[in-house]
Amino acid sequence: MDKRGRVHVWHGPNLQALGTRQPETYGVTTEQAIVDRLRALGGPLGVDIVFLQSNHEGVLLDAIDRARMDGIDAAIINPGAWTHYSYALRDALAMLSCPIVEVHISNVYAREPFRQQSVTAPIAWGVITGLGVLGYELALHAVHARMRERLGGGGGG
Ligand code: DQA
Repeated sequence: MDKRGRVHVWHGPNLQALGTRQPETYGVTTEQAIVDRLRALGGPLGVDIVFLQSNHEGVLLDAIDRARMDGIDAAIINPGAWTHYSYALRDALAMLSCPIVEVHISNVYAREPFRQQSVTAPIAWGVITGLGVLGYELALHAVHARMRERLGGGGGG
């Protein structure tokens, strides 16, 4: 890409505890390690990562709205439990005109019935679920490929 891209990565509730939270389900990688990995990957791709985690829905809604006003290139979101019931989050995401990838560390379709519905997935470009923290890296590659198509230019991996 000719200019550096900006990808926002958003984490919903309880994801700050990754690393120690139900490691049998979510693994042992910490949230910080995920962000560090995305930044390391993003550098040579020409992508800057802006990260936010919150346990407060309004904080995330405000951040999404600010990102909309600023004009971002792509978003990667693991909405945590809000995935399954937050119409407010869905509405906020629906206002973005950039590609959105929804990521779940666990395979939500192999878990409790309430996790098998995502109210946010229908407005996402794509969804990655069950591939562990690798899902974030795959999401970054996907949005980067899409950004290259949209913004044009060579280089940047
Ligand atoms: C999750 C799955 C959700 O059902 C759960 O509430 C989470 C994490 C995942 O990454 O697998 O907090 O989004």
